Amino acid sequence: MAGSAGGNRGVIHSQLLAGQKALVTGANSGIGKATAIALGRAGADVVVNYVVGADEAEKVVTEIEAFGVRSYAHEADVSDEEQVVQMVSRMVDELGTIDIMVANAGLQRDAPVTEMTLAQWHKVIDVNLTGQFLCARAAAKEFLRRGVVPEVSRAAGKIICMSSVHQIIPWSGHVNYASSKGGVGMMMQTLAQELAPRKIRVNAVAPGAIRTPINKDAWDTPEAEADLLRLIPYSRVGDPEDIANAVVAVASDLLDYVVGTTLYVDGGMTLFPGFATGG
Ligand code: BGC
Repeated sequence: MAGSAGGNRGVIHSQLLAGQKALVTGANSGIGKATAIALGRAGADVVVNYVVGADEAEKVVTEIEAFGVRSYAHEADVSDEEQVVQMVSRMVDELGTIDIMVANAGLQRDAPVTEMTLAQWHKVIDVNLTGQFLCARAAAKEFLRRGVVPEVSRAAGKIICMSSVHQIIPWSGHVNYASSKGGVGMMMQTLAQELAPRKIRVNAVAPGAIRTPINKDAWDTPEAEADLLRLIPYSRVGDPEDIANAVVAVASDLLDYVVGTTLYVDGGMTLFPGFATGG
């Protein structure tokens, strides 16, 4: 069975996304990988984007194909305009169209502000924010060209931006990352407002602390995990499948009336847990 840790796999109705075509950026590891697999399990054909890690991407493709849907890996840097345009145009050529864009690719380059280089700032903004803009724009153009196909979905298309609890929680030592995710929140709302009249739904999913390579230091020793759990009222670190299931739900017509919303999937991290015993 596909997926890694977590007892919450496969709970989404099977075939919820039958006949839909999805693209997930950064889908060779972590949240993107789990999301690509969950979309395939729900019946969608899935393009697995990656920038480095071709072998991992091919393994994800194989897992997805086992569900009887189509999949292929596509190397592209989401911060490169031409590569993003080309990625979506190949998808239209090979799969016919795109119905679901999951703008997931993201990274961290952490440093205290006085030590943060301009290159670190640009890298994170370019991938996490500009990359999502380029992916959303390319998908929106195809959604508008095609319009609504009622047998496939009530919407002309769905854009799901992978945000973070740091869309609203300031984060010392990570000003580039927190700024990128704050930007993702406003970009998502603005695009949702602009595109909703054209039947395109734009939303964000905002993970808290999820067990992935990006934050390994925060959970891979018992001491680190205990420290992290102080920030999570629900007392467990999230699994990539927690986020993947949320993306499948938001992408599906079950949530057709959800437009311009950020769904926090964080075990309560955004509930100001420091105030649970005082304030
Ligand atoms: C970051 C992780 C962090 C989590 C909660 C995520 O967006 O990428 O490194 O553990 O937020 O702070």
